[in-house]
Amino acid sequence: MKISKTTNSKIHSTDFSNLPFGRVFSDHMLICKYKNGSWGESEILPYGPIDMMPGTQVLHYAQSVFEGMKAFKNSDDEVLIFRKEENFKRINKSAERLYIPQIPEDIFMEGLDNLIALDSDWCKKNEEHSLYIRPFIFASGECIKASASDEYTFMIITSPTTRYYPSDINVLVEQHYTRAAKGGVGYTKASGNYASSFYPTKLANARGFTQVIWTDSVEHKYIEESGTMNIWIRINDTLLTPELSDSILGGFTRDSLITLARENGIKVEERKISIEEVLEAYNNGILKEVFGTGTAVTVAPINSITVGDKKIEIESQINSYASRLKKILQGIQNGSIEDIYGWTSKVNTVVSSQ
Ligand SMILES: Cc1ncc(COP(=O)(O)O)c(C=O)c1O
Repeated sequence: MKISKTTNSKIHSTDFSNLPFGRVFSDHMLICKYKNGSWGESEILPYGPIDMMPGTQVLHYAQSVFEGMKAFKNSDDEVLIFRKEENFKRINKSAERLYIPQIPEDIFMEGLDNLIALDSDWCKKNEEHSLYIRPFIFASGECIKASASDEYTFMIITSPTTRYYPSDINVLVEQHYTRAAKGGVGYTKASGNYASSFYPTKLANARGFTQVIWTDSVEHKYIEESGTMNIWIRINDTLLTPELSDSILGGFTRDSLITLARENGIKVEERKISIEEVLEAYNNGILKEVFGTGTAVTVAPINSITVGDKKIEIESQINSYASRLKKILQGIQNGSIEDIYGWTSKVNTVVSSQ
């Protein structure tokens, strides 16, 4: 792997106490190109512009997938990446559905480890800090006939982060627009899924909501996800989360929480959850918590849900499941709680080749 280090690091001019999510980038990026049926050599370069012709296919047909993952620093200043094998598998699952060639494991893992090792100072040791990692693959061939590309680019960029949602989360149940349909690409991290979610989300934002709860595309009756988070409902002492389908992204925070909840004696059910069931639980006084999970937010309590013109407010609980599970998850992620699941991997901070 070719590595060219920056001679002009931005780290000392970065205000780590004020990091708007996703807008600050670390010093380096990884790039690897696919041409003539195979992936070439990866390269790490200073973060900067990439060449692109106006006819580049991704700009026209959105043939593009991405991942979101995080690295954390433990008390010994070692960098831990959370569940990287799962992100590797998921980017290839997304790639398959978008007719993008599979990225080989060695390109993904060596590129990731070298990049994070090189920019490890951008990962701060603090409870709310982490390094957000964004691998992505896009169609980089030049052709304006609607067709799959024969050239692709794989990249990884990173961004230091703190908290995602600074305040209360008030959500609107979306019963007109759809995020993902049966047989579609909702279970993947296809870029287009996000593009089509912005308009309904902006309409909800304009009405004062933080984000929407997506419902099924057929009846708008069952809840699926909340914005870019998997959603959880606590009724009495049972945690419910929608069962996975081709219209729901299988999050690893969701997967981790299912394990942690069960290990901590909390009953979890993965099944269909109707809006009606949530409203009924509220009316019966047994709706205890609603929260979302995802890499960016970890675990984020939802304060209110609006269905049509009915708003239900969820009172915050002392020692809530959300806060208990978040604490354990964050502890595993930052190494303060022993990782008995093998979810975290240490980055060897010696960059492997020059
Ligand atoms: C649509 C959607 N749902 C759920 C999630 C949560 O997934 P994860 O926990 O793997 O970050 C994400 C974030 O990646 C997402 O974009």
